[in-house]
Amino acid sequence: MYKLDQSETPLFDALMEYVNRNTIPFHVPGHKKGNGIDEEFKNFMGENPFKIDVTVFKLVDSLHHPTGPIKRAQQLAADAYGSDAAFFSIHGTSGAIQTMIMSVVNSGDKIIIPRNVHKSVTAGIILSGAIPVYMQPELDKTIGIAHGVTSETVENTLKQNPDAKAVLIINPTYYGVAADIKKISDIVHSYDIPLIVDEAHGPHLGFNDNLPISAMQAGADMCSQSTHKIIGAMTQCSLLHIRSERIDIHKVQQVLSLLQTTSPSYVLMASLDCARRQIALHGKELLNKAIDLSSYARYKINNIPGFYCFGEEIVGNPGVVSLDPTKITITCRDLGITGYDLDMILSNKYHIQMELSDLYNILAVGSFGDTKENIDALINALEEVSTEYYGRGNRKSDFLDIPPIPRQLEIPRDAFNSEKTPVLLKNSIGMISGEFLMAYPPGIPVLCPGEEITKEIVDYVQELKDTGLYVQGTEDPEVEYIKVVK
Ligand SMILES: Cc1ncc(COP(=O)(O)O)c(C=O)c1O
Repeated sequence: MYKLDQSETPLFDALMEYVNRNTIPFHVPGHKKGNGIDEEFKNFMGENPFKIDVTVFKLVDSLHHPTGPIKRAQQLAADAYGSDAAFFSIHGTSGAIQTMIMSVVNSGDKIIIPRNVHKSVTAGIILSGAIPVYMQPELDKTIGIAHGVTSETVENTLKQNPDAKAVLIINPTYYGVAADIKKISDIVHSYDIPLIVDEAHGPHLGFNDNLPISAMQAGADMCSQSTHKIIGAMTQCSLLHIRSERIDIHKVQQVLSLLQTTSPSYVLMASLDCARRQIALHGKELLNKAIDLSSYARYKINNIPGFYCFGEEIVGNPGVVSLDPTKITITCRDLGITGYDLDMILSNKYHIQMELSDLYNILAVGSFGDTKENIDALINALEEVSTEYYGRGNRKSDFLDIPPIPRQLEIPRDAFNSEKTPVLLKNSIGMISGEFLMAYPPGIPVLCPGEEITKEIVDYVQELKDTGLYVQGTEDPEVEYIKVVK
C-alpha cells in the first residue's frame, strides 16, 4: 500500500549518527549537548533530549531548504498519508493554516470559511488581506456545540460567490464530528478552486476504517493536521499535506518558510519523523485500542445519571456524516452544573485534566496513549460527582439563536490595523467592530472585526447575559464596552 519503506526514520537516524560520532559542538544551541543546562532541569529531563537538540548543518539537513534526511522524512510523510507533498510545521497547525491561506489567496481575494474558525484562520486572513465570506455551521442545541457545514451550505455560498478563490472547512471538529467532506470536495472542485481543510483534529484519520475519511482521501487540495494532538508527535509538530493539481507546492514551501523560525527544534522534528513511522506501521492496531477504550468510556458514562456522551445516534443530523469515536464529549447539563464547574472539580479533587470545557460539556481526547486504568479513574470520578450533584441543580437553558451575520464594512486586515476606541456596547449600533464577540455556547462569533454592530446583536448580548449564558471576546471582560474602529 505504501510506495516507500515506512520503517525508515531518516531524520532520527541522522541525529543518532551525530550522537554516535561523539561530535564536538561548536554550534548553537549554547548548552552544547546539555553541558550548559541548569542542573535541576537536566536531572529531571535526562541527558538524551539535549544530545539531539542541534541546529542546521549538512548531516541533519535544513527545514527551509531540505535536501537530505528532512526531505526524505517529508516524502515518507506524504507517502503515509497519500498526499503529493508533505511539509513539517513546527509552528503547529496554526502556522500550517496561515500558510495554506496565504498560498491560495492574495489581498482582496474572497475565501469562503465557516463562521467558527480557529484564530489561526483569522490570522491567515489578516496576513493575506483576503475577504472572508462566512458560512454558518450547523448548531446542536442539545449538546450546545457547532458541527460542520453542510454540502448545501457550501454549494449555496459558492453560487452567491462564484468569484471566490478557495473554500476552507474544519473537518473533523474539535468534538470529532465529520461533515460530508467528499461531497463538499466535489462541489468546490466543480468551481475549479481548491478545498483546504483544517484537519487539526484528524492526523489519525485514514489509518483505521472505523474513523471518518481523511481530507486527502476525500480529494481535498491541502490540509493541516496537529500530529501533536492525537498521534505521537510532540507539542508544536504538525503536517501540511498537498495535492498538486490546483496547488503550487513551491509557493506553499516559500510561504511556510516565511512564517517559521529559522531555528526549528530537531527534537520536535525527530518526534514527528518517528510518530509518522508509528502511525504508518501500527496505526490500525493502535487506533483499534483507542476506539475500544473510548467506546467503553462512552458506554459507561452514558449509564451515569446526569451525563450524556453523544455517539452514533447523532449521525445523520445536519452537519454530522460520521464520528471520530475517540473524542468523548461529556454533556453535564442534566446534572445542574456547568462544564466549567465539572472541569474544576475533576482537576482539583481528582487531579484529572480535561481537554476543554464549555457551559454544557467537558471534552476528553482519547488516544492510544490512554490506559484502561485511567479511563476507569475518570468513570469513577464522574460516578462520585453524579452522586453528589444529580437532582440538586437546574438544567442549564438552551442557547439562543444567533443573530444573522452582519455586514462586513472593512476587511479584517484593515480593521486589525486601524485605530480603535472603546464605546459602550449599547451606544455602538451602526459602528464598525474592532473586536470579536463570541457567544458561548456554541462558541461562534456574533461579531468579527470589520463588521457592523447591529441593534439585533446588542439586544442579543443583553439577552445572553440575562439568561446566564456567556459572551466573550472583547477586551472588557464584562462586555459593557466594545472597541470600535475610529
Ligand atoms: C480546529 C483547530 N484548528 C487549528 C488549531 C491550531 O492547532 P495548533 O495548536 O497545532 O497550532 C486548533 C487548536 O486547538 C484547532 O482546534
